[in-house]
Amino acid sequence: MTDWPYPRWVAHRGAGKLAPENTLAAFEFGARHGYRMFECDVKLSADDVLFLLHDATLERTTNGRGEARAQSWQALSQLDAGSWHSVGCKGQRLASFEAIARYCLDKGYFLNIEIKPTPGLETVTGIKLANAADLLWKDAAVPPLLSSFQVACLQAAKSAQPQLPRALLLDKLTPDWLATALALECVAVVCKYTLWDEQTVAQARNAGLRTLSYTVNDESAVQRLTALGTDGIITDRVDLFKPD
Ligand code: G3P
Ligand code: MG
Repeated sequence: MTDWPYPRWVAHRGAGKLAPENTLAAFEFGARHGYRMFECDVKLSADDVLFLLHDATLERTTNGRGEARAQSWQALSQLDAGSWHSVGCKGQRLASFEAIARYCLDKGYFLNIEIKPTPGLETVTGIKLANAADLLWKDAAVPPLLSSFQVACLQAAKSAQPQLPRALLLDKLTPDWLATALALECVAVVCKYTLWDEQTVAQARNAGLRTLSYTVNDESAVQRLTALGTDGIITDRVDLFKPD
């Protein structure tokens, strides 16, 4: 990917903490603030439906209990995924990946899909996500960007749909971070924003990789990342940063 087709600003989990994360309401909230690219976390239900949820368990962001993977999509789709956030969001449902994909395609929005498997399901989640994304975006000009902290997810996505762009997520710089990204034929590295400095940006760029950061919520960090010449910023603060 020599031309980078994605916007610089990416709304984290739809709209960060300002709406119930990973729901359609969050995407709509981010869009109302001018965002045209969104990050979301995707995993598998018991009956292998791809849906949006950050945690492996349901308690924090829904009125359900236990492992999300233990429940069918029919059961998950009945849960209240809004009341935990605020009274006004009561009744907001979990979003299927297909619904969010169709929403983004319909609006012309860009998507960064973080493959967030239930532990132990890295390979199957990577394969099913890549195959679903390939089908949904088959007529789109710009494919979604698939990312993961899990090498096995990216390896699975690469084997299933090698043409879909991949990014390696990093919460620390291991000695082999660059070699791993290159072995996975990634187009980008998405680092915890404090990890970027002149040397790491140069290493990535010299290897042909784009440089993105998560989760950037204050102005001084944005200025530092801009001065370093990085390519993308994932933020919760869609209210604070106006996307360009
Ligand atoms: O994809 C960037 C960011 O979402 C990674 O961390 O835990 O917020 O999914 P997390
Ligand atoms: Mg994420």
